[in-house]
Amino acid sequence: MNLDKHIHLVSFLINSPINHTVLSWADDKDNRLDALHDLKKWQSLAQTLERGIFDGIFFADTPGVYDRYKESPDDAIRYGVCWPAHDPVVLLSALAAATTNLGLATTMSMATHHPFTIVRQLSTLDYLSNGRIGWNIVTGHLRGEHRALGLDQMDHDERYDRADEYMEVCYKLWGSIGPDAILANRKSGIFADPGKVAKVKHEGKYFRCETVGPTLNSPQGHPVLFQAGSSGRGQLFGLKHADVIFAIQPSLEGMKTYMTEYNAAIAASGAEKGPGMSFGIQVILGGTEEEAKSKLAGIVERIPLDGALARLSGSLGIDFSKLDLDQPIQEMETQASRGLMKSMSGIVGDRPFTVRELGIKWGLAIGKPQLVGTPEQVADQMEHMWRETGCFGFNLTPTIMPSSVEDFVDQVIPILQERGIYPTEYRGTTFRENLGL
Ligand SMILES: Cc1cc2nc3c(=O)[nH]c(=O)nc-3n(C[C@H](O)[C@H](O)[C@H](O)COP(=O)(O)O)c2cc1C
Repeated sequence: MNLDKHIHLVSFLINSPINHTVLSWADDKDNRLDALHDLKKWQSLAQTLERGIFDGIFFADTPGVYDRYKESPDDAIRYGVCWPAHDPVVLLSALAAATTNLGLATTMSMATHHPFTIVRQLSTLDYLSNGRIGWNIVTGHLRGEHRALGLDQMDHDERYDRADEYMEVCYKLWGSIGPDAILANRKSGIFADPGKVAKVKHEGKYFRCETVGPTLNSPQGHPVLFQAGSSGRGQLFGLKHADVIFAIQPSLEGMKTYMTEYNAAIAASGAEKGPGMSFGIQVILGGTEEEAKSKLAGIVERIPLDGALARLSGSLGIDFSKLDLDQPIQEMETQASRGLMKSMSGIVGDRPFTVRELGIKWGLAIGKPQLVGTPEQVADQMEHMWRETGCFGFNLTPTIMPSSVEDFVDQVIPILQERGIYPTEYRGTTFRENLGL
């Protein structure tokens, strides 16, 4: 198998009552509420993903409440819509202990943490896990996150200017300890050669940092960097810093258009190759096509529109309670996610979504397309999407936990493997090696 030409997969989760599907916790078979207080359930999930040779388990995180809808957090609270948002970082060392090859990626917000804190925490984890950590770099699009900290949310583009300086500090910290600085000589009692540890002194517009590298150098040097902003400014940031980009487009047509624009941006940047593009999808399997469709219908039926619109309003920075439910979505000015606003206000099929339709789509999987059918049909759809777009792979949002993940690993992965488009083993030990970076 040509390992550089296979589908890359990460599982896209949240340490909250739901991953993305509103009210999934209310399903009789869902174990998420138990997992919130049971590390073993998370460990078993990570082992299932490792059995399915997933590149990584990935935690999204918005450390604040969705409070735009009706200018209140009540609907997010009422329906458990990403609330409470437990900290995903604390799960990672337990997951590292239960797995060997699986990449372990988490979101940490630049709004909530200083660069020193992020580098220290993630590099400690990268060192402990033998190089399996990834960081989803986010600037903090959710207003509630800033309110929780008593901060004013910066304007959209300035958040990215600050993020560029943020990365500058991170790179200085990651590069501080020279490769042969650590001596750990028991006889001489010399632990490290201070001459080989560069002093970090950063004084910029947004940050000051005077220190030295906070952790021993980890096998990856620094975590794999993910980024998911897709506005013009977000894309520039991603091209500069990321190894892999996450994007959401509600249809195959949207993905193809997005890839064309993305490839043009890479060419314009003068780079030979850009970060890998991972598109979001949600898989719903059944023994027959009808069974899968009826499973999807059951999930949709359970979604309370108010809960879904609470999430949508926070993500897009617009109070959707003020709009007519049957009016078509138009691109609106926002300080939240401009990339998602653009991708969700385009034509899907022959017209844009209405507010009601997008609410449900958001409640299912924040606008990701659903691949519905038998394992063979889903494998066909994935392969088609992958070949048509030329993307790096997919980030998958499960529905019912953990059965939707187990079914995918047991029923779809073997088909992709038989087709020679998915690996049968990990190629390396670090996350970066397994991603082929
Ligand atoms: C697939 C995907 C996952 C994301 N995950 C998070 C997340 O976990 N936390 C967060 O604060 N923002 C998350 N975002 C938001 C983006 O990181 C970004 O901040 C936002 O889209 C605004 O950037 P833009 O206007 O450049 O698109 C995600 C976006 C996408 C498309």
